[in-house]
Amino acid sequence: MNVYEAVTSRRAVRGFTGRQVPREVLERVLAAAAWSPSGSNLQPWHVYVLTGAPLAELKKRAGERVATGDAWDEREYPMYPSELKSPYHERRSAFGRERYGALGVERDDWEARQRAAAANWQCFGAPAALFCYIDADMGPPQWADVGMYLQTVMLLLRAEGLHSCPQMAWSVYRKTVAEVLSPPEGLVLFCGLSIGYEDVTVKQPRTGRAPLDETVTFVGDPGRRLQAA
Ligand SMILES: Cc1cc2nc3c(=O)[nH]c(=O)nc-3n(C[C@H](O)[C@H](O)[C@H](O)COP(=O)(O)O)c2cc1C
Repeated sequence: MNVYEAVTSRRAVRGFTGRQVPREVLERVLAAAAWSPSGSNLQPWHVYVLTGAPLAELKKRAGERVATGDAWDEREYPMYPSELKSPYHERRSAFGRERYGALGVERDDWEARQRAAAANWQCFGAPAALFCYIDADMGPPQWADVGMYLQTVMLLLRAEGLHSCPQMAWSVYRKTVAEVLSPPEGLVLFCGLSIGYEDVTVKQPRTGRAPLDETVTFVGDPGRRLQAA
C-alpha cells in the first residue's frame, strides 16, 4: 500500500469485528509512528494501548456510566469553539446529517442520537484501543504534534490492513479511563483511538471534503512560468 492509498483508504470506522489485533503488529506500528515530527523533537505524546481484560473493564465501566445517565466529566479542553462560524458550522451540520442519516436517525431525535453516540464508549466493538495524553502545560504547537502523530499511527494501521476511529468522545469519561490506566498527574486525555478490523456489514457513508480551493490557496505558479521560459 503506498502513502496515497493509505491516506485515501483511512476513514473513521465505526464498526469492528472481534478479530484480535496481534501485539507485534501494534508494536510495529507504534515503533514506526515514533518517527513522527514534533517541534524541537519534544515528542509530546503519552500513549496507552489497551486490549483484552483491561479494555473489557473500561468498556464495562463506561457502559455503566452511559446506562445510568451519569454526568460527563468536566472538560479539560474545549472540543470546539462555543460558536462555530461559517464555513465550519455548515461543515459540522453536513457531517451530522451524513452520520446520523446513514443510521436512519432523525435530526431532532436526541435519544436515538445518544444511542448511536454510546457506541463510542464500546470502541465500536474494536478489540484494541489507544489512549493519547498530553502534558497539561503544552501549548497549541504540541497539540498539533500529537495530531500529526495520531495521523501517522492511523496511516500505518492501514498498511497493516487495520482501521481506526479517533475519538474525542473518550474525554468526557476521562476519569473512568484514568481509573483503568492510572496515568501520572498532569496529563490531559486528548482522545482515544479504536483499532481493529473493519466490520464491512456496518453501513457507513464516506465523508465528503470541501473543494480544494476552499482550503488551499496557491500563490504563484512556478511550473507554468518554467514552461513559458
Ligand atoms: C481529533 C478527532 C476526534 C474525533 N472524535 C470522534 C469521536 O469522538 N467519535 C467519532 O465517532 N468520530 C470522531 N472523529 C472522527 C471524525 O468525525 C472524522 O474524522 C471526520 O468526520 C472525517 O471523516 P473520516 O475520518 O471518516 O474521513 C474524530 C476525529 C478526530 C480527528
